[in-house]
Amino acid sequence: MPPTKTILLTGGAGFIGSNFVRLALRTRPDLRLINLDALTYSGNLENLAGVDTDARYSFHHGDINDAPLVQRLVNEADAVVHMAAESHVDRSIMDSRPFFQANVMGTQCLLDAVRRRKGGPVRFVYVSTDEVYGSLPLNRPELKFHEGLPLVANSPYAASKAAGDLLCRAYHETFHMDIVTTRCSNNFGPFQFPEKVIPLFVTNLLENKKVPLYGDGLNVRDWLHVEDHCEAVLAVLDRGRPGEVYNIGGDNERSNLELTRSILSAMGKGEEMIQPVADRPGHDRRYAIDASKIARELGWKPTRSSWPAALESTVRWYVDNDSWWRRVKSGAYREYYARQYASRAAV
Ligand code: NAD
Ligand code: DAU
Repeated sequence: MPPTKTILLTGGAGFIGSNFVRLALRTRPDLRLINLDALTYSGNLENLAGVDTDARYSFHHGDINDAPLVQRLVNEADAVVHMAAESHVDRSIMDSRPFFQANVMGTQCLLDAVRRRKGGPVRFVYVSTDEVYGSLPLNRPELKFHEGLPLVANSPYAASKAAGDLLCRAYHETFHMDIVTTRCSNNFGPFQFPEKVIPLFVTNLLENKKVPLYGDGLNVRDWLHVEDHCEAVLAVLDRGRPGEVYNIGGDNERSNLELTRSILSAMGKGEEMIQPVADRPGHDRRYAIDASKIARELGWKPTRSSWPAALESTVRWYVDNDSWWRRVKSGAYREYYARQYASRAAV
């Protein structure tokens, strides 16, 4: 079947974006993908090795704030999936400016290009995050994030994503554009930049270094395999209702301590490898997603996130892809890591 639809994907060289490219090229012969990525520290063309030669895929090195480039690519597309962002909370605490540049101004630039698209606006999927909802208490396990909640961002990263999220709502309301928003929980899987907790801990242990656990280790995250997230984004792209928000989550809540113990056990390491460190400022206590809307309306449910098998296979991926993460962990990453842990004293 020849491709019938061209998708402009932003941020396709990052963790989720590169998994999206692989999944879409493997499972969706009807799609052609244009990947626009600025190749910031977390964008890596190695993440696309082997799929980048596919005739249905093309790459454009560029910034989502480059209005003429964005307009040209949007004019060629039948839909936009917007994933490009500064994505790491700790970096946003050190310096929030790049977050507002990319996540707010970049989103605005894309939305304007879609509004002015030659031939008329097309569907725009904004990949937001569950962090826009703020934090849930540990002692009310029955509470979960649902799409009707107000946005209560607690980190500069979350505030920048929430601003992008609200811009999408505003463009839908004001210009009647076909915009759909997703809010997903924490992803895990291959090609995740090793500043995020799972690849950081696994690769530290492979280097025989300790793992820095923030605060009391009892903060909870709701873990979802990245390919489950990407399938949900495809479902929203295909069948999401204009102007709607869809939560995406795995119903897989784990405290950071439980997660750390599972990683240690998968790697045959003991608890002496845990280094408690000072907490992240403004650290959200608990995320938990109510994903019943996307299940009910679009028939999506996770199939790859079962725990602990999915975590163990992710750990194995980093063990087997030594040269990938060693290269990623060298260079500019070292400087970040040194700054980060200068401000996170051991406790
Ligand atoms: P990532 O940091 O691994 O990748 C981000 C990508 O965006 C990189 O390839 C980078 O080069 C690109 N990029 C950044 N600024 C750009 C710009 N100005 N112009 C063009 N490209 C730019 O992030 P990720 O974890 O893959 O997250 C992707 C998206 O999913 C983000 O929007 C994030 O907010 C959202 N999200 C992530 C998670 C998660 O657990 N990782 C969960 C929910 C939502
Ligand atoms: O919930 C979705 C969000 O998940 C996405 O929007 C973000 O882009 C993504 O980075 C992720 O945010 P988190 O802050 O939850 O992920 P991170 O991997 O940084 O941290 C996960 C938990 O682990 C968090 O409670 C902090 C803790 N942690 C993290 C690091 C890096 C540690 O204890 N030690 C660490 O060194």
